[in-house]
Amino acid sequence: MLHLASETPEAWGRWAVAHLDTIVLDHAHCERKAASNAINLIFRYTDQVHLMAPMSALAREELEHFEQVLAHMQRRDIVFARQFPSPYAGELMKACRVKEPERLLDTLLCGALIEARSCERMQLLHQALVDDGCDDALAALYDSLLACEARHHATYVELARGCSIVDETALRARLQVLAEHEAAVVARLPTEPRLHNGVP
Ligand SMILES: [Fe+2]
Ligand SMILES: [Fe+2]
Repeated sequence: MLHLASETPEAWGRWAVAHLDTIVLDHAHCERKAASNAINLIFRYTDQVHLMAPMSALAREELEHFEQVLAHMQRRDIVFARQFPSPYAGELMKACRVKEPERLLDTLLCGALIEARSCERMQLLHQALVDDGCDDALAALYDSLLACEARHHATYVELARGCSIVDETALRARLQVLAEHEAAVVARLPTEPRLHNGVP
């Protein structure tokens, strides 16, 4: 259960495969940023003991994913380079409330939605790579990673629940509001070949 409010069309996977090197570079940056976001939460919320071990484990896992993607980039002769940042995360986070403890709750739920969108897109990418048959090793990578991203989604939701800021009904309602915002952000983003950008 990914709690996304919109579905990426299957054709996105074929389009992504047609721009595979750009997508893989973007993916490397996404894993790097996912690790950085987890570490930032550890530094910003030292009073939230329940976040420490799960966020530390998540940061390590995202860095492992980063290294895996870098290895595939090397195999495909893609140079790791700086990339103009996608507006996706910044636009998504604009919905986070400013005051604590609501800010923490929203940050965790937005984290959950980023992981969910990654998982959804990786599923499409995996299927398109299998159908295309152009890179079986990369298809296998996406198959293994999408399961991790689904688990990360659940981890963020569980950590938001663990903050005990709101009851279950309010938590689900807030997740729905943020999911609708995330869907609106994706719909208006440029149609660049990125893991989280708009679709053509
Ligand atoms: Fe990851
Ligand atoms: Fe992740």
